Amino acid sequence: MAYSGRQLHSMIDASGNLTLSLKQVIVPDPDDDEVIVRVEATPINPSDLGLLLGPADVSSLKEDSAGSRLTFTIPPGRLGPVAGRLGQSLAAGGEGAGTVVAAGKNAAEFVGKTVAMLAGGMYSDYRLIRAENVVVVPDGATAAQSASMFVNPQTSLGFVETARLEGHKAIIHAPAASNLGRMLQRICLADDIPLINIVRSQAQVEIMRSLGATRILNSNDDDFVARLTDEIAAVEATVAFDAIGGGSLGSTILHAMERAAIRNMKVYDRYGSDTFKQLYIYGNLDQSETIINRAGLGYNWGACGWLLPPFLQKIGEDGADRLRKRIVDELTTTFSSHYTRTITLSEALQPEILRAYARRAAGEKFLVNPALG
Ligand SMILES: NC(=O)c1ccc[n+]([C@@H]2O[C@H](COP(=O)([O-])OP(=O)(O)OC[C@H]3O[C@@H](n4cnc5c(N)ncnc54)[C@H](OP(=O)(O)O)[C@@H]3O)[C@@H](O)[C@H]2O)c1
Repeated sequence: MAYSGRQLHSMIDASGNLTLSLKQVIVPDPDDDEVIVRVEATPINPSDLGLLLGPADVSSLKEDSAGSRLTFTIPPGRLGPVAGRLGQSLAAGGEGAGTVVAAGKNAAEFVGKTVAMLAGGMYSDYRLIRAENVVVVPDGATAAQSASMFVNPQTSLGFVETARLEGHKAIIHAPAASNLGRMLQRICLADDIPLINIVRSQAQVEIMRSLGATRILNSNDDDFVARLTDEIAAVEATVAFDAIGGGSLGSTILHAMERAAIRNMKVYDRYGSDTFKQLYIYGNLDQSETIINRAGLGYNWGACGWLLPPFLQKIGEDGADRLRKRIVDELTTTFSSHYTRTITLSEALQPEILRAYARRAAGEKFLVNPALG
C-alpha cells in the first residue's frame, strides 16, 4: 500500500520571493532494504531555519487567503549565497524520529519500532529511508526524546574530540545557553574538561549555573573582556567554538587568548605569543560581517569554519560509531533536549508560530509532530 502525506517545502524564485508550502506527496512502496517511517517528532534547529527561511526578511511575511502558503522577500543583496537553490522546491527538516509503518522484506524486523534518523525532508508525514540509516531508539525512549539525537549531540561531542585531537586543554564556547551549549557543558563536566561559557543575559548565566557550570561570562557585562582573559589564563584555553559568527565576538576571544598567553611568556616577542590559538566559527546566528581585528593579535592563530559532516568523515566509521554509542547510552541525560512547544505540520505555517520559532531564542526550541495534524 502506497502512503500519501504532506511535506513542508521551501522555494526561492529568481526575483527573491521565498515560499513555504505543504505539498501532498506519494511515498512509494519500500524496496527490499527500505522502511517507511511515520514521523512523530522533528526539531526546528537553526540549520533547518537556514533552509526554510534562508536569508529572507521575516518581517515581510505574507499569508495567502487560503492560509496554505507563506511568502517572504529576500533583500536583493542577500540573494547571492542562495543562487544555487533558485527555482528548486526543497523539503525541509534535518533529523527526527517516528514509528516504522512499512518495510521491505529484508527490513521486516523494524516494523512497529521507534527509530531516529538524520535524513533531511523530515517535516513530512512519512519518510522513506534505507533501514541501515535509521537507529532503533533505546527501550522506553519516546520519539520526542529521540528526535534530536544526531545534530547537536554529535556536534558537541565533536568539539571535545577536536579539542583533544589538537591538544587543547580547555574550551571556550558561545552562545553557551543554546541546546548544543547545554550538552557541551554536561559533557565537559563528565569528562573533566574546563569550559568557559559565554552567554548574553543574566537569565542565561543562571541556566548555565543550574547545569553545574562554574565559568560563565555575560558578554554584556562591563568587565567581560577582563574576566574572559582571566578565565582563559586560569585554564589555558586555546580553542573557541563560536556559533554567533557575525560581529566581533570571535575577535575579542582571540585577543583575550593572546593576552592570556602573553601573561605566561617570560621574554617579550614583537611577533606576539608562541601559543597557537584557534577560533572555530560553526554557526551564523548573527548574519552580519565577521570582524577580526588583527592589531595586537600576533601571528600564531587561526580562524576557520567547523562543520559536522567533514568532522565525521575525519574520524571515520569507528569514531562515528563511538559517538553514536555514547549518545544512545546517555540519550535522556547528557543529550536530552528541552522543547518549549510541540506544533503540528500545519501550525508550522501559522504566521505567529513561525515568528516565534524563527527567533532562535535560548530555551525556546520547537518540536514538530506531523502525526498530530
Ligand atoms: N557547524 C555545525 O556542524 C553545527 C551543527 C549543529 C549546530 N550548529 C549551530 O549551533 C548553533 C546552536 O544550535 P542550537 O540548536 O543549540 O540552537 P538553539 O537551542 O536554538 O539556541 C540558539 C541560541 O543562539 C542564541 N542567539 C541567537 N541569535 C543570537 C545572536 N545574534 N547573538 C548571540 N546569540 C544568539 C540564543 O540566545 P538568545 O536567547 O539570547 O537569543 C540561543 O542561546 C546554531 O547556530 C546551529 O546552526 C552548527
